Amino acid sequence: MTGWLLKISTSLSFSSLAFALNNGLGVTPAMGWNPYNAFLCSTTEAQYQTQAQSLVSLGLPSLGYNYFNIDCGWQATVRTSAGDITWDPTIFPSGVPALGIFVHNLGLKFGVYSDGGVFACDFVGGTAHYIGSLGHETSDADTFASWGADYLKYDNCYAVNSTDFVDDNPPILIEPHYATMENALAATGRPILFSACEWGVQDPARWPASAVANSWRIANDIGPPASWDNLFRIINQLVPITQFAGPGGWNDLDLLEVGNVGLTTVEQQTHFAFWAAAKSPLLISTDLTTVTAETLGILKNTGIIAVNQDSLGKSISFKRRYTNDQDVWSGPLADGSTVAVVINWQNVSRSLTFSLADVGFSSAIATDLNTGTSLGKLTTSYTSTVAAHGSLVLKLTGGVSAPIPTFTYYPATSGTLGGGATPRVVNDTVTVVGFVGNGGTLTFTNVDGGTAGGTKLLSFDYINGDVTFTNTACSNCRNTFVSVNGGTAVQVQMPLSAQSWDILFSGYLVSLPGFNAGKTNTVTLSNPSAYTPDFYRMGVAM
Ligand SMILES: *[C@@H]1O[C@H](CO)[C@@H](O)[C@H](O)[C@H]1NC(C)=O
Ligand SMILES: *[C@@H]1O[C@H](CO)[C@@H](O)[C@H](O)[C@H]1NC(C)=O
Ligand SMILES: *[C@@H]1O[C@H](CO)[C@@H](O)[C@H](O)[C@H]1NC(C)=O
Repeated sequence: MTGWLLKISTSLSFSSLAFALNNGLGVTPAMGWNPYNAFLCSTTEAQYQTQAQSLVSLGLPSLGYNYFNIDCGWQATVRTSAGDITWDPTIFPSGVPALGIFVHNLGLKFGVYSDGGVFACDFVGGTAHYIGSLGHETSDADTFASWGADYLKYDNCYAVNSTDFVDDNPPILIEPHYATMENALAATGRPILFSACEWGVQDPARWPASAVANSWRIANDIGPPASWDNLFRIINQLVPITQFAGPGGWNDLDLLEVGNVGLTTVEQQTHFAFWAAAKSPLLISTDLTTVTAETLGILKNTGIIAVNQDSLGKSISFKRRYTNDQDVWSGPLADGSTVAVVINWQNVSRSLTFSLADVGFSSAIATDLNTGTSLGKLTTSYTSTVAAHGSLVLKLTGGVSAPIPTFTYYPATSGTLGGGATPRVVNDTVTVVGFVGNGGTLTFTNVDGGTAGGTKLLSFDYINGDVTFTNTACSNCRNTFVSVNGGTAVQVQMPLSAQSWDILFSGYLVSLPGFNAGKTNTVTLSNPSAYTPDFYRMGVAM
C-alpha cells in the first residue's frame, strides 16, 4: 500500500494555520524540569522536593530553567466526594498544593499535569486508571489554579474511550479536548501556560486559530530510553511544520534526554542544540542529584540557550539533506544573524564540510556556539572534524547572499510511468505521480544536461504523508533511489511534506553526477522494496 489514502480524512479538518495562543505566556519557549524521562510516572513527593532543590542549587533557574513540573502518576484513581481531582496520598503525603508552595518558595514556577481522557497515562500499560480530566475541565482548571499552578501539561491517554490507552490514529477529533481545557484555564483568570501533549497524532501545529496551546508535542515520545533513531524520527516529523512556531506557541519536540542513557554525550549535544534552535521547550528530564559535569556543560551552554530564547522566535527550518551524511538546517535570529545546525549522520568522527550556500550565503562571519569560539570569516564552506552524530552549531553574521539557482522543471505527469506508478489528482492545480517504488518507476526523459553535463543540482517537489508513531527503516521519511542515465541508483531520504497527502514539499535538493550535455538525459526514480513519495515535479538547475 502506498499509504496515501490513510489519514486524508482527518487532514481535511485542519486547513487553517495555527495562531499562537494569546494568553501572554510562552513568549519564548518554556524552560525547566520534568521528571518523566528519569522517573516515568513514579515520582514521589520526596523526589520532587529533592529535584527542585537541586535545580536551584545547580544554578539552573538563572539560565532560564524556571518551570518545575510534575508529570503522570500523582493522581488518585477516584475523585473527591465533591467531584474534584485529587492526589494519591501515598505518593503525596503532604499534598500537591504543598508541593506548589515548596516550589514557589524556591522561586520557581509550578507546573501540573493532567490528561484529556477518561483516565490519565501511567506506567503499567494503562491499568492504573488515574483520574483524567475529560468532562471535568472547568472543575479541574479551577482546582489547578487554586493550587497555584503556572503550567499545565495535558496528555492524551484514553482520549477515545475507557479501553483505548494510547491511540496514534484516533477515530475522533482530539482538538476540542484541548480547546475545552484551554478555555477552562483562561476562565480561571490565573496565567497558566498550556502545554498540549497530544503526541502529534492529529498535526496540532495546524490546529485553527481558536486554539489551543502555548506548545504542542509534534511526535511520539523521545524515550525513555532515548535513541538516535528516535531523534531521526522526530526531526523528520518537524520538517513540514517549522513555520508554525512563534511567540506564544511552539513545536514541542519532547522532554530533553540530556543526562540519560541511550544517547552518547555527543548525541546529547546535538539533541540539545537542535531542540534549542527549533525553539522547542527545553525541559530537563534527568535525575539532578546525580548529574555529571558533562551533562551540565550541555545544559548550561548560554550561547545555545540564547538561540532558544531569541526574541524573534523563529525555528530553524530544513535546508538540505545529504542522505546518510549530513542535514543542514538554519533560521534567523532577532539581531539579523542566522543560526545554522549541521548534523553529522555518519556513525564515525570525520571531516565534515558545510557549504554556506546551503543556508543561502557565499560568505559570513561565524561563531561556533558549541565552543563559543569565533571562526572569523568563512568563504564558500567550512571544514571541521565532527564526532559521530555530532553537530556544527554556527551563528552567522554579515552573510553575503549566494546566487540562487534557477531550475528547469519537468512535471512528473509528463514522465514515463512504469510498473504500478499512477497519477493522482490532489486538487485542481496539482496532480502527482504515486505508487512509485515496489516495482513502480517514474522516468523523466529528454532532461537537459546543459552545455557541459556532469554533476547537476536537482530539485524535487513531492508529497509524503507517511507519518509514523514508531521507528521504521525510514521513520517519517521515504527513500527514493535516483538513477541518472541508467547509472547507479543513489538513495535519497525524503522527509514528510505534511501528515496528510495533499501538501507539497517544494525544493528538496540533491546533486547527482552522470549527466550528458544537451536534452539527452533520463532520470529514473524507484525503490525496490518500498514506496517513494508521490512526485509533482523535478527541477534541474541551469
Ligand atoms: C474504544 O475505542 C477503540 C478505538 O477506536 C475501539 O476499537 C473500541 O471498540 C472502543 N471501545 C469501547 C468500549 O467503546
Ligand atoms: C549507522 O549504524 C546503524 C546501526 O548499525 C546503521 O543502521 C546505519 O545505517 C549507520 N548509518 C550510517 C550513516 O552509516
Ligand atoms: C493544491 O495543492 C497544492 C499543494 O498542497 C497547494 O499548494 C495549492 O494551493 C492547492 N490548490 C488549490 C486550488 O487548492
